[in-house]
Amino acid sequence: MRIVLFGPPGAGKGTQARLLEERHSLTQIATGDIIREAMKNETPVGKEAKSYVEKGELVPDSVVRKLAEQAIADQDFDDFVLDGYPRTTQQAEWLTAFLEENDAPLHAVPSLHVPDDVIVDRLSKRRMHKETGDTYHLDHNPPPADVDDDMIIQRDDDRPETVRNRLAVYRDETEPLEEYYRERDLLVVVNGVGDIEDVHGRILDALEQAQTSARAE
Ligand code: AP5
Ligand code: MG
Repeated sequence: MRIVLFGPPGAGKGTQARLLEERHSLTQIATGDIIREAMKNETPVGKEAKSYVEKGELVPDSVVRKLAEQAIADQDFDDFVLDGYPRTTQQAEWLTAFLEENDAPLHAVPSLHVPDDVIVDRLSKRRMHKETGDTYHLDHNPPPADVDDDMIIQRDDDRPETVRNRLAVYRDETEPLEEYYRERDLLVVVNGVGDIEDVHGRILDALEQAQTSARAE
């Protein structure tokens, strides 16, 4: 199955993509994670991306395109869940063309809907494992007791002013893609508020619904 998991910063894309990976054999392709790894390793891409990520701006389309296309090709064009890509109309058009050229169209685009006040709470209390990238929330999903405190950090772009900018960038540049995917009959809106397991169940229902309607055509 080929899925784009869509939604604003802090909606739970990463949390849910990892559950799909663990339980349903889909590989998570998260452009944000790939970029953070490049920044940590100070690669040329990482150095170029740093100033954008730290301000909560989008990294230039052409840079992210290469990372995403490489990861999709590495995955043999199947069994992936894209997390954080595409994020602009240009990226969406490139993705559609790239997948079409490789006979691998998307099956569904579940879109997680979460109000801004919940997002701000989630991101201010998010913590990340320095090495594995595992994501936690201080209240809802705390780091396990056997994980060393020194390994748990806060993402630089989770500062309040950067979060505000990321949300504004999402509204201006990314949210319009809902319409792009609605027009292509791929969008399924999913309520992203509530327990992590409940949201996971709703995503599975959305994927089931998408498969049923594809079979009916
Ligand atoms: P990226 O890493 O993709 O960040 P994002 O889209 O802003 O999303 P987040 O990772 O912040 O949130 P999430 O939806 O994954 O939520 P999570 O599961 O962590 O991108 C970072 C930057 O990289 C961008 O700003 C940009 O600069 C660049 N970039 C990346 N892709 C790009 C692209 N395509 N084009 C251009 N630039 C790009 O959950 C959040 C918190 O909530 C966690 O603490 C979690 O534990 C908690 N939580 C999750 N679900 C629940 C729940 N149901 N109940 C309670 N708590 C929950
Ligand atoms: Mg994420």
